[in-house]
Amino acid sequence: MKKKKVTPVGFTWIGAISFFVLIAVIMQMAILVYDYIRQKTDNISLIALLILIEILILSAFCTVFDFIRRKLTVDRPTKKILRATEKIAEGDFSTRLDIIHEYGKYNEYDLIMENLNKMATELQKNEVLKTDFISNVSHEIKTPLAIIQNYAQMLQDDGLDPETRRAYTKTLKGASKRLSDLITNILKLNKLENQEIQEKAEAFDLTEALSESVVEFEPLIEKKKLELNCDFDDVTIFSSKSLLEIVWNNLISNAIKFTGEGGKIEIALKKSEQNVEIKVSDTGLGMTSEVGAKIFEKFYQGDTSHSTQGNGLGLALVKKVIDILGGEISVQSEINKGSTFTILLKDVVYEY
Ligand SMILES: Nc1ncnc2c1ncn2[C@@H]1O[C@H](COP(=O)(O)OP(=O)(O)OP(=O)(O)O)[C@@H](O)[C@H]1O
Ligand SMILES: [Mg+2]
Repeated sequence: MKKKKVTPVGFTWIGAISFFVLIAVIMQMAILVYDYIRQKTDNISLIALLILIEILILSAFCTVFDFIRRKLTVDRPTKKILRATEKIAEGDFSTRLDIIHEYGKYNEYDLIMENLNKMATELQKNEVLKTDFISNVSHEIKTPLAIIQNYAQMLQDDGLDPETRRAYTKTLKGASKRLSDLITNILKLNKLENQEIQEKAEAFDLTEALSESVVEFEPLIEKKKLELNCDFDDVTIFSSKSLLEIVWNNLISNAIKFTGEGGKIEIALKKSEQNVEIKVSDTGLGMTSEVGAKIFEKFYQGDTSHSTQGNGLGLALVKKVIDILGGEISVQSEINKGSTFTILLKDVVYEY
């Protein structure tokens, strides 16, 4: 952060020189008054009394002057800051301070106030994120839990034929998988956000790793009768294999999920100089630009009815990983035509 130019509240040369001049003027005045009294009278007791009165008046003047100065420059902002910090400490994050001087003429108090305002804004944002997060998690947990309760209840019926019993058990399994996926993703995201997952970079064959992931999705691809085209350059990279797996697993699973039967999925891996570009395209549902702008937010799902499977955490995880690895992710999409997600990993190509 660029350091701002601020006037110190304590020692300043201007303050010191002003104080010096004030004291010099007062002493000069005292000498002049003393001379004046000496010219008017020789009575030593009267002179002593008048000098005492003069000293008292000048001391009172200095005290009042210093009192007003402190009141305005120290007491007022300190009390203002104190009141604000008390409110923030009590949890009122809407508290904001009116900064005394205009920008560019800040003193240290103005800077403290500006920093306090920023802290309160951050705390307020975090509070909103926390409540949103809790309500989203509760919402996502409620649906599969309700399914589990209902189907467990229905399974208690002894008269169920084996076919129906199998179907109910399958639904139960699906709901509990949804719950465990949700918890796994929340924990992963939490670890990534708290930087508990260290980026363990290693040299690995990206072509092989990507092919292995694609193979794992083959049963799903076949089930939906999707056409799959892969075009992979041969490339070894130096990066975090486990983190990157999160990226393509989510992108491929989304491409499958949001593409109707008979659609097409293309996965391309291109090497260009030291960079690598991975594209995952589908001919599926696509999305509007409004939806496209929000897909990397936690718990966001284009289908607001949340009837499609998932919790809207996949792309939040992908974005976090790409940020950690210093890469780029972009999406191009057209409604009912399909989507293309492009990942750019910079300076990762590993030469033997
Ligand atoms: N290939 C795609 N085609 C169309 N829409 C997509 C595609 N990928 C993502 N989206 C949109 O972005 C939203 C967020 O995606 P994300 O992967 O974060 O969540 P999800 O797939 O719904 O759930 P989860 O990943 O937690 O199982 C999706 O709900 C969908 O609306
Ligand atoms: Mg997803």
